[in-house]
Amino acid sequence: MENLIEIKKVYKTYKLGSIDNHALNDINLNISKGEILVILGPSGSGKTTLLNVISGLDKISKGQILYENKDISKYRDYRMTKFRKKNLGFIFQTYNLLEHLNVYENVLVGSNLGHNKADINQIIETVGLSRHKKKYMHELSGGEQQRVSIARALAKQPKVMFCDEPTGALDEKTGKIVLESLVKANEKLKTTMVIVTHNPGIAMIGDRVIKMNSGRIIEEIKNKTRMNPKDIPWG
Ligand SMILES: Nc1ncnc2c1ncn2[C@@H]1O[C@H](COP(=O)(O)OP(=O)(O)OP(=O)(O)O)[C@@H](O)[C@H]1O
Ligand SMILES: [Mg+2]
Repeated sequence: MENLIEIKKVYKTYKLGSIDNHALNDINLNISKGEILVILGPSGSGKTTLLNVISGLDKISKGQILYENKDISKYRDYRMTKFRKKNLGFIFQTYNLLEHLNVYENVLVGSNLGHNKADINQIIETVGLSRHKKKYMHELSGGEQQRVSIARALAKQPKVMFCDEPTGALDEKTGKIVLESLVKANEKLKTTMVIVTHNPGIAMIGDRVIKMNSGRIIEEIKNKTRMNPKDIPWG
């Protein structure tokens, strides 16, 4: 598969008094176009920090982050914000949706942020919410709201979607439906997915798994096949 992102010798260091605390410690990682990469690790291992620096939400202390050979770690704030808006999608544990807009309108807002014009109805269909298009956020379950946030992020047709504990607030049944939406989006739209989780079962839906501990990548596993989210063990 073709390379999309190269992470080279990346450090993120926080000073604790006079002591250097490495939230990321010599991270080297490539992410391919169209792959589903799962980042797994215990609390405090550096998963969110890694996601935030790959997606330019946070600055690195040392190293390089290249998107198609362009070093974004050198970008200034304004340029970085523009790059993020155009190319990257985000899903968090909480949904951050607009309460006074319905499903269709929330997704439309996502498309207006980017430069690409997407077919809103098709994206809503991809996440399985066609029946709920006119509903407001308080009329939806947690899993449905998370799928709205996925659709909203997909609407600008991002190069990569970064998902930080996308099922963290959901029960098993609902969580699996949300994961199915992510996989379907990857299959239909070829969107590269980076999913952060502490749930080892979720690792099985990906092409590749990175295990983190104390700011380091301690293991990389290539899955022979992707498991259907329906069939994964939970927790
Ligand atoms: N702004 C900050 N200042 C100082 N230390 C920080 C800061 N942000 C994160 N850290 C430290 O960096 C380490 C990694 O944190 P991070 O949030 O990346 O962990 P995580 O793997 O996402 O954990 P969780 O599963 O609990 O979300 C932790 O030790 C944390 O305390
Ligand atoms: Mg985290």
